[in-house]
Parts: sequence; structure tokens; C-alpha cells
Amino acid sequence: MARIFVAGATGGVGSRLLSQLTAQGDDPVALYRTPGQERRLAAAGATPILGDLTTIDTTVLAGQMHGCDAVIFTAGAPDQGQAAADAVDGRGLATAVDAALVAHVRRFVHLSAFPEAWRGRQMGADFEHYMRVKRRQDVYLAATALDWVILRPGTLTNNPGAGTVRLGPALDYDDVPRDDVAAVLAHAAHQPCLRRSILELTRGPVPITQAVADAA
Ligand SMILES: NC(=O)c1ccc[n+]([C@@H]2O[C@H](COP(=O)([O-])OP(=O)(O)OC[C@H]3O[C@@H](n4cnc5c(N)ncnc54)[C@H](OP(=O)(O)O)[C@@H]3O)[C@@H](O)[C@H]2O)c1
Repeated sequence: MARIFVAGATGGVGSRLLSQLTAQGDDPVALYRTPGQERRLAAAGATPILGDLTTIDTTVLAGQMHGCDAVIFTAGAPDQGQAAADAVDGRGLATAVDAALVAHVRRFVHLSAFPEAWRGRQMGADFEHYMRVKRRQDVYLAATALDWVILRPGTLTNNPGAGTVRLGPALDYDDVPRDDVAAVLAHAAHQPCLRRSILELTRGPVPITQAVADAA
């Protein structure tokens, strides 16, 4: 059993991740920012912690992470403009990384983005900015002494999880169900050999347990 701090716990991936973690006997600590969300998080088996990544102090966040075995960062503001991306995916990620360092939580998993996502489409300046922020924060995390894992999923869908994926350092771009992303994150949290590693993730034929073990 591991105590795992989840940033973005109320989101599409984060809420599925809480279910996966409790199902495998872990003890998730769930960061949320809107009062009223705590009841749903507690009902999902998590310990709710109120905090906004754009305003929280690093030392306070470190105190909340204290005693955790890993941090999984699934927070983000992809469709809310460039300022929100800078605040949440940018400075918010950096605050969480700095807090993990202060709290001596060595294992940090970042749900990032697939660099080839929607290339060739005219996605607009906000999307391109968002991708640059994700990339910059991968660089920030990778320069630390943490046991980091950067997971870069293709486009997220709400299709039912298949329980199978492709996972590796360089893949052809494709989409992937949020269910399967959450399952990969939950398994990755328990693979200490999987460290200082960047992995791309799409739908595919390999059972998730095997895909994570192979990557480790
Ligand atoms: N969409 C894609 O195709 C795609 C592809 C690759 C990677 N990604 C990445 O995957 C991430 C997770 O995807 P998703 O579908 O789970 O996103 P989501 O449903 O929008 O969830 C985002 C989470 O971040 C939280 N959050 C936002 N701002 C926050 C703040 N200031 N402080 C604390 N928490 C905050 C949200 O909390 P609230 O509930 O309070 O809003 C929510 O829990 C995305 O953010 C993106 O970076 C997405």
C-alpha cells in the first residue's frame, strides 16, 4: 500500500486514478480547489486536501505531501487560455515539484502531453502555447534529482478503457482512453525501477501491467 498525492484529483483522469488507486489498496491524498468537492473525494476513498495550485505556498504544499510515497500530477487548464496554462500547467507544476523536493517525496509522475498531438491541424495560438508550457515543465522536472516519470498521452477520450495500451519512448501518435491513462499512472506509481524516464502512451494491444513492467 502506498500513500499517493494526486494533483488534479477531480479531473477526468484524476478521478479515475483515485478509483484505480483505492482498488489496488493505495491511500490517495486528493488536492482539490473548490469547497464542496471534498465529499465526493472522501466517498472515493481519498483524503481530501483543499488547495489551489496557482496560489498555494510551496512550504504549505510540501506539508501536505509530507509522508507520501509519490506525487502524481494530472492537473491542468488546457482550454482556458494562455494565462491559465502558465498558472496551472506552468507555475503550478513547478510549485508541486518544488514541494515534493522539500517534502522528500522522491517519486513524481507528470501527466504531460504527446508532442505530436494534432500536428497538421490549425489548432491556434492557445494550443501551441499550451504545448510549449507542457514541454517547458517537462524540462523543469527532468532537471531535478527526483525519481521522475513523464507520461505523454495522445489525445484523451472517454471511451471505456481497454486494459491494453502502447507505452514506450517513441510511438506513432494516437488517442487513448482516460481509463487506461489512469491505470498506467496507478501501476507506474508502484514501479520503482521506472524512474527518470519519458514515455509516450496511446491505445494499443499490450496489457497495461505488462506494458508498465516492460517500460520499467
Ligand atoms: N485533453 C487531452 O487530450 C490531453 C492530452 C494529453 C495530455 N493532457 C493533459 O492531461 C491533463 C488531465 O486531463 P483531464 O482530462 O483529466 O483534465 P481535466 O478534467 O480538465 O482535469 C484537470 C484537473 O486539474 C485541476 N485544476 C485546474 N486548475 C487547478 C488549480 N488552479 N489548482 C488545483 N487544481 C486545478 C482541475 O480541478 P477542478 O475540478 O477544480 O477544475 C481538475 O481536477 C490535462 O490537464 C492535460 O495537461 C490532456
